[in-house]
Amino acid sequence: MQMSANANSKHYPGYLEIITLEECDSTNNYLKRNYEQLKEILPVLVTSSLQTAGRGREQRTWLSSRGKGLYSSFGFNLPTRQYLNMLPLISGFSVIDTLHAASGIANLELGIKWPNDVLCHDKKIAGILIENIIMEPRLFCIAGIGINLNHAKDDFPGELSARATSLKMVAGSDSDYVVQEVNPLLARFFFRWLEKLETGEKEEIIRTANRYSHFLMGKPISFHQTPDKLISGIFKGIHHDGGLILESNEGNTAIYFSGEIL
Ligand code: BTN
Repeated sequence: MQMSANANSKHYPGYLEIITLEECDSTNNYLKRNYEQLKEILPVLVTSSLQTAGRGREQRTWLSSRGKGLYSSFGFNLPTRQYLNMLPLISGFSVIDTLHAASGIANLELGIKWPNDVLCHDKKIAGILIENIIMEPRLFCIAGIGINLNHAKDDFPGELSARATSLKMVAGSDSDYVVQEVNPLLARFFFRWLEKLETGEKEEIIRTANRYSHFLMGKPISFHQTPDKLISGIFKGIHHDGGLILESNEGNTAIYFSGEIL
């Protein structure tokens, strides 16, 4: 299936190949497995009604049942590694723009927990799994995006129901969101932000990242740099290279480029 897009823009693809699957293990895995066949037609968007082995960050699983969420991955090339730290951020912005557009609620209170968990009222509404594969001389990037669209509270198992939410829950909508209608919005916003990244509009990206993570500013956070290394400090915002700025309890400031805020 092909999707018509804004052909005037250099980076926004005139046609985006959309691969729509009924079922797959993981849309990120699908892109990796099929890179050889797909590399000539990049960028592509792979979307699946359900995933049997949806993956989250830090080896977690991502529940991916039919009719509840959007499970999509963008596969594209980047010319250089210099943008990589910003990819999680712009993917998060695309999700936020999409949630605003799909719900029609401009003041939906959405934020980003660095680097790319999208939260609404402190609960996770979307997750992003970026995977980069070096295919010299280029980089093959996968931005896998899972958005909770139609879940009710009881659809989240166990303690997840206290930490997760969905667009339907926060927008108070009666009817279900349709994945095929949300994907084009996501693609439009994603490539718009990617273009800003590639044309060097870093300042706007960092300003936007700081605005969306303002709810954490000055607050004490705990931060997993690696699964077994926990660091605590005060959140001081997003650095101009996309890293997390953390002030230690001793008053020293450090920048981290990977890890996860608890
Ligand atoms: C996270 O928050 O841990 C990241 C979740 C990412 C889930 C999406 S769903 C589409 C794509 N395919 C996957 O297997 N994972 C990502």
